[in-house]
Amino acid sequence: MRNPAFTRRMVTSLTVAGCLIPLAFVAYRTLTGTLGANPISNLTNRTGLWSLRLLLATLAVTPLRRLSGWTWLMPARRILGLFAFFYGLLHLVVYLALNQAFSATLILGDLSRPFIIAGYLSFTLMVPLAATSTMGAMRALGPRWQLLHRLIYAVAILAVLHYLLLVKIDFQPPEAYGALLVLLLSYRIGASLRRRIAGPVSRHAQTRTTQTSGQSPQRSD
Ligand code: HEM
Repeated sequence: MRNPAFTRRMVTSLTVAGCLIPLAFVAYRTLTGTLGANPISNLTNRTGLWSLRLLLATLAVTPLRRLSGWTWLMPARRILGLFAFFYGLLHLVVYLALNQAFSATLILGDLSRPFIIAGYLSFTLMVPLAATSTMGAMRALGPRWQLLHRLIYAVAILAVLHYLLLVKIDFQPPEAYGALLVLLLSYRIGASLRRRIAGPVSRHAQTRTTQTSGQSPQRSD
């Protein structure tokens, strides 16, 4: 890329604009009263679905970058993750305010449903990820940041479980999201295993090259 700062700004702006489209769509349908026969359920489902979709999109960025070499994709990852959190928060607010009318009895009573517990757990684990998404937090946490952000896999597993547990008739959509998640997880595990296996060999090879050429070793990322 000729101008990395310009590319970064473009990717960031386009991702933000893209992530706002579902919100604009939902707002339009709400304001025009075209959310269908069951608008509250429609609103709950749409916000939940977008949270899950953006979560999976966040997880897809690194494999896509590695397979395609499109390094310019990277700034999109943080934005996608933050919007997954934003739609999750909206989903929770719609559920608490419109489905349960902020009634403590209704909210606590619903905790007997396993899919509700999976939803709360998934959202709760998203909070530290969103809170530490800044460069400052990344610098402050150092290597622990990466470790903490592996929580995104638990978030996604719980979100798919939440979806699987709540459907009663058509299992195909949650199964499709589950299959995509398995694919992304398999890629991640495969890449990590390959790095572990290649690590000592490449380090050994690098040491040999360094010894014979007299050069200093370099990082291969
Ligand atoms: C914060 C706690 C959460 C609560 C209390 C909650 C609650 C609900 C409820 C009541 C429904 C509608 C169920 C029905 O139609 O019978 C729903 C649907 C859904 N939720 Fe959640 N949820 C939570 C978190 C999440 C999170 C974090 C995600 C995704 C990352 C998510 C994704 C979904 C999806 C995909 C659906 C189904 C959409 C559809 O059927 O089209 N939820 N949730």
